[in-house]
Amino acid sequence: MTKQDIINFKKWFSDFCLSYHVDNIEDQRNITLKEKHTKQVCANMVEIAQAHLGSDNEVLLAEAIALFHDTGRFPQYAKYKTFKDAVSINHGLLGAETLLSQQILTNLPAQEQHLILQCVKYHNAYKIPHSQTDETVIFLKMIRDADKLDIWEVFIELFSLPPQERASAATLGFLDTAGYSDRLIKCIYDNTMGNLKDVKSLNDYKILLLSWIFDINYEKSFSLIGGRDYIARFSEFLPQNDEIRQITAELATYVSKMAGA
Ligand SMILES: [Fe+2]
Repeated sequence: MTKQDIINFKKWFSDFCLSYHVDNIEDQRNITLKEKHTKQVCANMVEIAQAHLGSDNEVLLAEAIALFHDTGRFPQYAKYKTFKDAVSINHGLLGAETLLSQQILTNLPAQEQHLILQCVKYHNAYKIPHSQTDETVIFLKMIRDADKLDIWEVFIELFSLPPQERASAATLGFLDTAGYSDRLIKCIYDNTMGNLKDVKSLNDYKILLLSWIFDINYEKSFSLIGGRDYIARFSEFLPQNDEIRQITAELATYVSKMAGA
């Protein structure tokens, strides 16, 4: 893969996004959210890749994976007006199918095409499938980190806005009711990732997003999380009580330990 390939892919992606632009303000806000997210995931991915991968070619491949990872979000939203995969379509799968049908990657060696498609397909899987090769797993872990880092950034920005100005599809329709589920708190104490099926409210969803810390893979990702203070900034949007303060402290300790601090 060459630098020119990335330039061509970025041009294609920008035209692809434009083709999904609409006049409706709410719908356009949701589309813009994913375009901006993609740019930021690319920046995260390059930082992590430069820290952990050996060659320029691998860094370019990592960037291409980040650029394409949410391709499926655009046709998903156009058809179903939601980002909730469970009630619409798996956007990882749809992204890989879109790249294939549009023949975007055909210039690349077969092994690179396969790697990119596998990473797009499984970037959003609850767990990485066992069937993947060692090389794919390296990149899959990386896109999953780069994606999560920006999801925290996007939500911190989003929760700072008045509800009527937020991109409506981002919070998957969960209601902002009081309280939260003990099951999700337990996940934090168990150092495991929560499951979307246990989420009943917006607070639950916020705790679920915090539990994603336990699916982060690379030391560089942890150091970016620590440096950007995601845990403390994110926790501000949860009810302020001793239990939340305690899980926040638990998460912050885990991040510092994993960042090698
Ligand atoms: Fe995604």
